[in-house]
Amino acid sequence: MNTVLFVKANDRPMERSVSVKMYEQFLRSYKESHPHDTITEIDLYEVPLPYLGNKVIDAGNKAAKGLPMTTEERTLQRFVSSKLEQFISADKVVFAFPLWNLSAPAVLHSYLDYMHHPGKTFSYSEEGATGLLTDKKVALLNARGGVYAEDDRFEMAVNFVINHLSFFGITDITTCVIEGHHEFPDSGEKIIREGLQQVEEVAAGF
Ligand SMILES: Cc1cc2nc3c(=O)[nH]c(=O)nc-3n(C[C@H](O)[C@H](O)[C@H](O)COP(=O)(O)O)c2cc1C
Repeated sequence: MNTVLFVKANDRPMERSVSVKMYEQFLRSYKESHPHDTITEIDLYEVPLPYLGNKVIDAGNKAAKGLPMTTEERTLQRFVSSKLEQFISADKVVFAFPLWNLSAPAVLHSYLDYMHHPGKTFSYSEEGATGLLTDKKVALLNARGGVYAEDDRFEMAVNFVINHLSFFGITDITTCVIEGHHEFPDSGEKIIREGLQQVEEVAAGF
């Protein structure tokens, strides 16, 4: 029995969002095929995620050093830490997000900021930084209107997330992308239908 964390980084309604459709399809298919797993969902737009900045950094530093903290710092630290521990303890994590303006939504950036914690997600040794989450399995569900080559430097959503996860030592990453439905509007419906079919199959085998 596995614990699975579903992270949704898109607050658009499902009927107008391909990545939310992917999320729901994956979730339904996964639940059917893995009825005994424990699933937790987190909607990154539902709770305000404080930006990484002086307050969050100071709160983290003070907590690490056991220094006195203000009530606000304690609240911030507990929030960030709860998201970090939830991510670390999941056997599998599924992220769903769109490509907007070449990048991932800002909430996903904030969420990934919280995951950078020396001693928990990576550590430093003589060889440099080493990721510590080597056993975690991840699926990425992404929708983008244009078509991008894998090494396209303008694609900073999937590549952005994969780079963060790789830094944490995660290598088992399955990526589902539905793309080109804006660039090729005549085939848009077909692209989405076939992409969702693939998502269903990937979820069943994840
Ligand atoms: C604000 C905004 C910015 C977008 N920027 C890009 C972009 O830079 N490149 C691209 O290929 N598509 C872009 N698109 C199209 C989206 O990638 C496409 O609508 C995709 O389906 C988004 O996922 P969603 O349907 O789950 O919201 C953009 C769409 C929106 C609404």
